[in-house]
Order: sequence, then structure tokens, then C-alpha cells
Amino acid sequence: MGDYSNMASYYDVIMTSGYYDYAKIVDSLVLQDSVEKVLEIGCGTGLILEELARRKSTLQISGIDLTAPMLAIAQERLKSFHNVSLSQQDVCNLNLPTAHDLAFSYGGVWYFVIDGDKEPFLVSHIPDHAANVQGLEKMAQHIAPHGTLLLGIQGPHHDYETVISNGMKYSQKIDPTDIGFTKHYFLSDGQKTLMAQTVKYRTYSFEEAKNMLATYGFTYVPEIRDNKLFLRFSKA
Ligand SMILES: C[S@@+](CC[C@H](N)C(=O)[O-])C[C@H]1O[C@@H](n2cnc3c(N)ncnc32)[C@H](O)[C@@H]1O
Repeated sequence: MGDYSNMASYYDVIMTSGYYDYAKIVDSLVLQDSVEKVLEIGCGTGLILEELARRKSTLQISGIDLTAPMLAIAQERLKSFHNVSLSQQDVCNLNLPTAHDLAFSYGGVWYFVIDGDKEPFLVSHIPDHAANVQGLEKMAQHIAPHGTLLLGIQGPHHDYETVISNGMKYSQKIDPTDIGFTKHYFLSDGQKTLMAQTVKYRTYSFEEAKNMLATYGFTYVPEIRDNKLFLRFSKA
């Protein structure tokens, strides 16, 4: 499963050193006025939700994440936002008291990779197929009829290393597997390894992803927009 415990205390510094652009992610959410309840699936340390809650104080915002140390950072970050509620949950057993007008995941449980002109493919933090199906069903149950699902878009993963804003060296290594790929994340002070985390990802072709989502009433809505960071699905 996509447990981020090892990375949690370094997550923010890695991500805000250029890995993700949180202002741009929230720009890309493009919320219509009718949207009142929003859910982030795999909210991590709450960096997206903080930006969203700051911009939209009237939204009712929920965030769920599997990894307790990630969520603890989110709880601290978001404690002054009374319109945000967080809970530690695996999406495969998602259980919230309300349905949402919009659910999104960015680099969270599910996301798409788009490599140039090639077809997008879906990446899942959940390696087991049956668990993915269960998770999609649970997620769908928490999106209201005519609601929207946005799944983030990332570029292709590759091996690299870079120095991040605190002077530490971040590196990642990708190993292809028969179900997708394994990604190894490392942080070092130049001499010793401070953090190592491995996540096994499952991938699905765009056709497979659309078919799985269609089972739960979601239709892909192609959009022509520059700089878009999400693919949009509409629920029947
Ligand atoms: C790369 S982080 C993204 C966090 C956040 N969306 C962001 O942009 O900073 C992926 C998150 O997905 C969470 N995750 C992975 N599998 C999950 C599952 N089955 N249920 C809930 N959360 C999950 C991990 O715990 C981790 O915090």
C-alpha cells in the first residue's frame, strides 16, 4: 500500500522545492459556484487543502489519507480552518457521512501520467487490482449524482537526483514491474541516507481506467485548456 510514513517529516520540503506547484494545482481545480462540498483523496500533509481553504472560506472541505504521520502534519497545518475536516482512512474502506460535489486526487491515491502525445495512463498507489476496484467503488459512493471527479496529471517518472531547498540531496529511482513500477525515494545529507521509502504502483491503460470508472457512472470529459493539471470525469 502507499504508506508514506518514512517520508512524512521530509515531505513538505521535498515537494515545495519544485516537485509540485501547489498554487497552480489549486488554480487548476476551477471550482464552479455550485460546488459546496469538496473531498481530497490522499491529502497528505494538507498543502493543497491549505491553499484551497485560504482561497475559498465558504467551501466545506474534507481530506482523507492513509498515513497517520502525513495526516498529523495536515491536522497541525489546517487547525485554524474550521471549514476543513480531516480523517485517517484508506480509500478502499472510505466512510464519510456525506457525499461531495467534487472529489479530487493529485499525486494521491490515483493520478494520470501523460508523456507527450501518448495516451494517458492511470497510476495507482494500490498494487492489488481487487482493492483498486473496491476503492473506486467507495470513492464513487462519496460523490453526489452529477458530481465531478478530478484526477491529477503528472509527467513521466524518471531516475534523477537534485539538491532541495534545505541543501539535502533528493533522489528517486524507478524500476518497472509486471503490474506497473516500483519507485524508490531517498534523501541524504550528502553522506548518509536520512530517508528511504519504496512504493509499489500499479498502472492501467487509459481504456482500462475509463472502463473501471464507467462501472461507477463516471464519464471522461475531454477539456481543451492549457496548463491543465487534472483530467475531469463527470458522474451520472
Ligand atoms: C504523493 S502523496 C500526495 C499528497 C498530496 N495530495 C499532495 O499533493 O501533497 C500521496 C498520498 O496518498 C496517500 N495514500 C496512498 N494510498 C492511499 C489509500 N489507499 N488511501 C488513502 N490515502 C492513500 C499517501 O498516504 C500519501 O499521503
